[in-house]
Amino acid sequence: MTAFPITRATTLKVPPPDAGLKFGTAFTDHMFLMDYVDGRGWVSPRIEPYHALSLDPATCVLHYAQAVFDGLKAFRGADDVVRIFRPDRHAHRLNQSCARLCIPALDPVLVERSLHALVALEQRWVPKLPGTALYIRPTVIATEPFLGVRPATSYLYYVILSPVGAYYPEGMNPVKILASERHVRALPGGLGAAKTAANYAASLYPAEEAHRLGFTQVLYLDGAEHRFLEEVGTMNIMLKIDGTVITPPLTGSILDGVTRDSTLTLLRDWGIPVEERPIAIDEVIAAITAGRLEEMWGTGTAAVISPVGELGFKETRYVINGGQIGPLTQRLYDTIIGIQYGTGADPHGWARPVSLPISEPA
Ligand code: COI
Repeated sequence: MTAFPITRATTLKVPPPDAGLKFGTAFTDHMFLMDYVDGRGWVSPRIEPYHALSLDPATCVLHYAQAVFDGLKAFRGADDVVRIFRPDRHAHRLNQSCARLCIPALDPVLVERSLHALVALEQRWVPKLPGTALYIRPTVIATEPFLGVRPATSYLYYVILSPVGAYYPEGMNPVKILASERHVRALPGGLGAAKTAANYAASLYPAEEAHRLGFTQVLYLDGAEHRFLEEVGTMNIMLKIDGTVITPPLTGSILDGVTRDSTLTLLRDWGIPVEERPIAIDEVIAAITAGRLEEMWGTGTAAVISPVGELGFKETRYVINGGQIGPLTQRLYDTIIGIQYGTGADPHGWARPVSLPISEPA
């Protein structure tokens, strides 16, 4: 494997202590970069000191939001081995997001190698405390300076790293989500399945409203009828009703979550019935009212497995499972965490050890 050229930072930062790590506020000493040049393709993969980007005010990403990203994590196991969770799948998803926004495809193997190389270089930043991780943020932005709506002719792929704790202030404690009849995250044929910056911009206003009402997040319903569950915006959603786990299907308006896929795979491994099908909010409310909704949780890289303790809908607040973490939610969390930290069996080979250290080119 050819190593990437590295320009090392001359001064190194002190990583924040593991205890009390926030999400996404501290960044490591180096970043990975690669340019797309019209007619030449993706060129100049390299690692440089972490630095601010200099962009012409006309750079099209600033005007037309041609930007995609992904998010994955590296974990330090009790054995001190650093493992990245499902980098191949994240690289694939990044390319799918690129395709939706007319961004030239990246070589997924090169993407995976870029993640490994950067994490290997920054290994001292991978926190150790249970519940912490090194968050990896590959991003692609359109860099051509022009005004006019068309795909750009130049792009920047970059990767930054951030040591993180729990995404939600609640940690693993149940969160409160508000099913919104007013706000829409995505429509069929839109951007919903792609991890684009635009989707997150669209979620800010509804989330503020939910916060004001005391909820952590918004549970989006489908854009056409405001009836069927979609996703939470920062995580996919799952429910257990009468022993069966139900989750909305991948019909193009929700994100194909890697933790969603991992969770469904584990449930199927365990012989627990799973249905990927449209689920109406009325069906959920009826199940809660009849005492048939046993557990509800969200899945996401940042959120991991996040129990839902309260669901708001039409002025009513419904308590789920007595506001407690359900046994299946806990089992899923423990199993996924076990795989990520290398303390449990990993039958699908999801946790990829980072080969340390990386060699510099001769
Ligand atoms: C992730 O789960 O990795 C995301 O990108 C969601 C974001 C809210 C941090």
